[in-house]
Parts: sequence; C-alpha cells; structure tokens
Amino acid sequence: SDTVALIVAAGKGERAGGDVPKQFQLLGRVPLVEHARRAFAGHPAIQSVLTVVAPSQEASVMGASVAGGETRRESVRNGLEAIAATGGAARVLIHDAARPTIPKAIVDRLLEALDNARGAVPVLPVADTLVRGGVRIGDVIDRSTLARVQTPQAFDFAAILAAHRAWPEGEEATDDAQILRRAGYDVVSVVGDPLLDKITYPGDLALAEARLEASMR
Ligand code: C5P
Repeated sequence: SDTVALIVAAGKGERAGGDVPKQFQLLGRVPLVEHARRAFAGHPAIQSVLTVVAPSQEASVMGASVAGGETRRESVRNGLEAIAATGGAARVLIHDAARPTIPKAIVDRLLEALDNARGAVPVLPVADTLVRGGVRIGDVIDRSTLARVQTPQAFDFAAILAAHRAWPEGEEATDDAQILRRAGYDVVSVVGDPLLDKITYPGDLALAEARLEASMR
C-alpha cells in the first residue's frame, strides 16, 4: 500500500541567516529541500513525494507541491489534506526540509516500526549537560531521561490526519508526534542519526557542506 513523503518547506528560516530561507540555500549546488526530495524519491518503499512551500516559492521546488500556512503545524495540515483529497495513503513520512541528509536505514527502521505502532520517530540522546537557562543558570536537568527528536516522522496516514483535524486551533505544536500522542496513540522511537540534525544556525550549512565533500572523496 501507498507510502507518501511530505516535506515541509514553508518556513522563513530566519535563524540560519542569508537572504533566502534556509531550506532553499544551496548545499553542493542543490537547494536543501531538493536533497530531501531526492532521498525520498529514491527510496524503494516510497511511492510519491509532496512538498509544502510558501505560495511565492511554488515555482522553485521540483515535483508536486502545495501551499503552506503560518506555522509548521498548519503547513503539515495543508499537506495532509492535499494527500487526503487525492485518495489518501496508507503511511506518511513527515519531514523538515532543513534536514537534507536522510539515511536510507532510518526510513527502513521507521517503516518497520509502523508495523506495530501508529507513529514512529528517530531520537538521539542528549550529549551536553542541560540546565534551566537564564543570566544565572538554574538547576541541572537529568539528561538521561531526555531525548532529541528528529524527522522524518512516520505515521499511519488515517491516524495522523485525524489527530491533526482534532488538534485545537490556536495551540501550537512543533512536531507531529506530539499531535498524534494528544489523540491518544503511542509513538515509538527508533535510533536516530546525527546526519538528520536540522540546519538551524549560520555555520550548520558549512558543516553539512564539509560532510558532503568528505563523503564524495
Ligand atoms: O523553523 P523550524 O526549523 O522549526 O522549521 C521546521 C520546518 O518546518 C522547516 O523545514 C520549515 O520550512 C517548515 N515550516 C513550514 N511552514 C511554516 C514554518 C515552518 O513548512 N509556517
């Protein structure tokens, strides 16, 4: 049955600096969003890829696209509704365009985990000491109980669509696993990969560029 990849690329991406939103910045001559699109398009278990972009950017993405919203959550919702309107899918992988490298093994692990859950996400442990922030730092937070959540996040399509539709308007969510959990479903984790870390700050792109060059040697 059908597995669709949904890439959200409708953000302003201001924290990364530069004159274009980060998801359109070039990594080895190719925009970040196009790296992600190609990775999904090349995976044997994925039948189609849909990219959510700001209306002004629709001409600059390859393949199928749909207009995004004010927040990431609304952008994902628009994408899910577009998939639903064209017949739906069995499974969907929801991904941030700002994460250009997607190891095939991660997609394999996520889809396998979906055999026993409605949602699966890649997570990694936290390496640094964590404290409550402030001019004077606060208490240490036990990092052994915490995990960093990445994308792609894999879902049963009907479940995540219903969860998004049930989410209260006006409340925000930065990831879809939380939206699925709020609807009462369990979300399982698979081992993530540092290659999936989000391009967020100036410098992250240079690091990704160096990694790409090293991988081509
Ligand atoms: O800003 P942040 O890094 O959290 O954004 C995560 C992803 O969500 C990015 O790929 C961004 O383009 C996307 N996004 C979106 N629509 C918005 C805001 C963010 O598609 N309104």
